[in-house]
Amino acid sequence: MKSVEFHPDAQDELISAAQFYEKQTDGLGLDFIQTVQRTYERLLRFPDSGRLFGRQLRRLLIPKFPYGLLYRVEPERIYIGGDAPSPPPGLLAVTGLSKAAHGRILPAMGEPTRAWPADTLARVPFWVYQDEANYRAELRRIFEGPTWSFVCLESDVAKPGEFRTTFVGEMPVIVVRGQDGGVHAFENRCAHRGALIALDDAGSVKNAFQCVYHAWSYDLRGNLIGIAFEKGSNGRGGMPADFCKADHGPRKLRTTTLCGLVFATLAPETPPIEEYLGAEILGRVRRVMGKPVQVLGRFTQGLPNNWKLYFENVKDTYHASLLHAFFGTFRITRLTQGGGVLVSPDGAHHASYTIGVPEDAKSAAYREQGIRSELDGFRLADPRLLDSVDEFNDRIQLQILTVFPNLVIQQVQNSLAVRQIVPTGVAAMELHWTYIGFADDDAEMRQRRLRQANLVGPAGYVSMEDGCVGGFVQRGAAAAGDEVSVVNMGGEGTESIDTRATEASVRGFWKAYRRHMGY
Ligand code: FES
Ligand SMILES: [Fe+2]
Repeated sequence: MKSVEFHPDAQDELISAAQFYEKQTDGLGLDFIQTVQRTYERLLRFPDSGRLFGRQLRRLLIPKFPYGLLYRVEPERIYIGGDAPSPPPGLLAVTGLSKAAHGRILPAMGEPTRAWPADTLARVPFWVYQDEANYRAELRRIFEGPTWSFVCLESDVAKPGEFRTTFVGEMPVIVVRGQDGGVHAFENRCAHRGALIALDDAGSVKNAFQCVYHAWSYDLRGNLIGIAFEKGSNGRGGMPADFCKADHGPRKLRTTTLCGLVFATLAPETPPIEEYLGAEILGRVRRVMGKPVQVLGRFTQGLPNNWKLYFENVKDTYHASLLHAFFGTFRITRLTQGGGVLVSPDGAHHASYTIGVPEDAKSAAYREQGIRSELDGFRLADPRLLDSVDEFNDRIQLQILTVFPNLVIQQVQNSLAVRQIVPTGVAAMELHWTYIGFADDDAEMRQRRLRQANLVGPAGYVSMEDGCVGGFVQRGAAAAGDEVSVVNMGGEGTESIDTRATEASVRGFWKAYRRHMGY
């Protein structure tokens, strides 16, 4: 890089940004101008690759200021600010600024605002669980981006007109079975003033939804079909004659179904679900979800942590037998048993599994390491809790599977559930649990599943601790935004492996996350 130049318009932009910051906090505007000046000086030392330059500029300028500057990089120099329309690929980089903003300094909530501290999957910065602007960028780039979000079970919307309300990220969504038999999904937001269109968790409509506020109505595909008093009253008032209902309506999502699960996406480029999951993970979904399901119960659990801490926890095969005293004590899953972890090639999805082996009963490995999760002398008052059958005929007594970015499919012995991750803020989330069995379960199997449901959920003998550890991290790292966590068990890679003493699937998550976020 030989020189950095201000675009003629940049002065105005800098001034308006400085004024904006000054309005937020006294002195912040001046601080902004000084940071920009220092940044420019340092930019002169960077190589002239647009991408690298973009990262460096973000790293230098953005951590403190969530809004950015558009700049243009040319082989010999950079233009900062101004309107930089369609330069050749690789020569435009945008920091903290939506490309649609055309060079103006604007709030850029859809853009990541931080840089990754080190180029390894084995280190994760703590700001990623704390930064409000980063969280907003996740909602846009991940949940509203090219991913499949789990939204409900097909059996939830079995008949035409049956619907469930749910979320894709923070976006409220209605999923409904159409008259044509297809499953449709659209934003649960009235085109008029934005009220929720459907208020109930689930229900059934004949052929339209009606907003409670001013009674605008929508068909089962989310098309606006009716406006109360559209022509006014007694020839007065009403909507303008040229108002076109077809031009207004909630955003529509594309849906797909797989083994009784319904997924939705806003992005046209999201690949088919089979391709999205990859063959191995697809096989593991089919293993559990092979028959028509029946819902046994559902509830919502609030968690005091960023959504990613929970997703990491589910992918973390290392903790299961160490954190959960019940698992170790009653030998449901131990690292000394058989099993392993499968990670999809893109890192996004995983399945971990435990196979009971007879030698494990005698293993002293946990005792030798002085781990508190093996408790001697504990006996179940009602041993029927653990009376399980090998229903999938493969001796896998536990399989935990994740689909990026929001689904967990759980098999703990004969307790089956789907868990949906719903982010509700940078440091809060909800977990929507649905316990399931199969439509052809006999009474004994149903009873067994209900008994074993006590293992999981907010007060479950096992999952209880998972409801706490995310909050422990959120609190422990509260002042450590610039520090990093260590994710080194099993090395630095994300390959599938036949042990669970590894953090490969956690690193896989960060591989996918960084790709989506552009870090
Ligand atoms: S907000 Fe829905 S009809 Fe007015
Ligand atoms: Fe756990």
